[in-house]
Amino acid sequence: PFRQRLLVVANRLPVSAVRRSEESWSLEISAGGLVSALLGVKDFEARWIGWAGVNVPDVAGQRALTKALAEKRCIPVFLDEDIVHQYYNGYCNNILWPLFHYLGLPQEDRLATTRSFQSQFAAYIKANQMFADVVNQHYEEGDVVWCHDYHLMFLPQCLKKHNSQMKVGWFLHTPFPSSEIHRTLPSRSELLHAVLAADLVGFHTYDYARHFVSACTRILGLEGTPEGVEDQGKLTRVAAFPIGIDSERFIRALEVPQVQEHIRELKERFAGRKVMLGVDRLDMIKGIPQKILAFEKFLEEHPTWRDKVVLVQIAVPTRTDVPEYQKLTSQVHEIVGRINGRFGTLSAVPIHHLDRSLDFHGLCALYAVTDIALVTSLRDGMNLVSYEFVACQDSKKGVLILSEFAGAAQSLGAGAILVNPWNITEVAASIEQALTMSAEEREKRHRHNFGHVTTHTAQEWAETFVSELNDTVVEAQLRI
Ligand code: UDP
Ligand code: G6P
Repeated sequence: PFRQRLLVVANRLPVSAVRRSEESWSLEISAGGLVSALLGVKDFEARWIGWAGVNVPDVAGQRALTKALAEKRCIPVFLDEDIVHQYYNGYCNNILWPLFHYLGLPQEDRLATTRSFQSQFAAYIKANQMFADVVNQHYEEGDVVWCHDYHLMFLPQCLKKHNSQMKVGWFLHTPFPSSEIHRTLPSRSELLHAVLAADLVGFHTYDYARHFVSACTRILGLEGTPEGVEDQGKLTRVAAFPIGIDSERFIRALEVPQVQEHIRELKERFAGRKVMLGVDRLDMIKGIPQKILAFEKFLEEHPTWRDKVVLVQIAVPTRTDVPEYQKLTSQVHEIVGRINGRFGTLSAVPIHHLDRSLDFHGLCALYAVTDIALVTSLRDGMNLVSYEFVACQDSKKGVLILSEFAGAAQSLGAGAILVNPWNITEVAASIEQALTMSAEEREKRHRHNFGHVTTHTAQEWAETFVSELNDTVVEAQLRI
């Protein structure tokens, strides 16, 4: 059967490289929702273009890594240290990321950030052009080029300038904020224009799409239509495409003997205690301090539960060169230490906090033994951890406590307990509600969520986006 060629372009490749010697590299799966979702996309003749997460200054090293990545259908974009500092650590993760999640610019070095804005923005454009150059080298006529996320908002424009016939889609994996927030960005107009060069622009939720369209109408003075945004007769189609996971992969994993063995071990280790679980990159948007403070409040108010619950928090290190992330790490460690000191006994502590990632099977086992998953994002594009938890809970039927500020609240809202993560009194009360919930109610809520997660998959998400992109291009040609 014909399989459409797809060039997937994202800052982060699905594998990150670690140098073993002069010419030998080992590849590890990268963490994060974008990579997980795209790994669930099959049925395309796909190639990946992106950054392998390392600086490779020497030609020999670049050649060896390119070869190693080719086996995984990955094509590297080499970014030097200075570009990574200004584009990735600076413009992407110190400016766009906090702003798109309504966190504002980092408080402490706000003025310094404001001053370095222009040079970081210049690096951002330069980096986007470097991605475009690699796409152009590998592009064949008829390919669909699918650009991903806030790192690559200039890419659609770079690509279309070079070849106006290219089919270009762009998808944002974060929220798109209210136009009142976007307005504060010095480069607000350039970013919007650059994205509008794409044929199709996609978001996780209808709200994010609507915010984007109003930013274009209010800031650029363009016309918003039900289809998208129009600029002098040229339409950019804008729509919502909620992402999903490869639920089968999780369900199958639970049958693997090694995972079942792991589940048995975990059950034994936590026998007699209810397991609460958090799985997050150690990121400000995840509301980890808020979650832990809510757990503390719960322990304070319910002394009888103190030796009967445990909170396991997997905090995957991320963007560790950005100062805000370093500050968050020490803040979280301090709170965890204080609470474990306060409520711990000689034999047990209430919080197991792990600064590390887990492999896929380890993660599945943990999801499966959990009684309550706690997702307290202050903002989150979608949040796939909530989906993965649900997929692994078909025998246990545990409870999902989910922030109303995660995109997932729109799909799992009827099955989860929705909370405002800023309100720790409310979150503490939800923990008690979840712990004491009847089996019938848990079953009913789980059935709702499980139905959603198993029918709205990553595969369908990608197929819908790509077919919409193909249709959009055909319709545009008919209009001329
Ligand atoms: N994840 C991972 N390694 C870990 C723990 C989690 O790769 O040790 C994955 C997890 O399975 C999920 C993704 O990271 O697919 C996180 O996605 P989510 O959408 O929840 O948040 P993001 O990190 O993209 O903000
Ligand atoms: C989020 C972003 C992704 C990013 C991931 C991990 O999911 O939307 O684009 O890849 O976080 O972050 P990192 O900076 O390590 O790529």
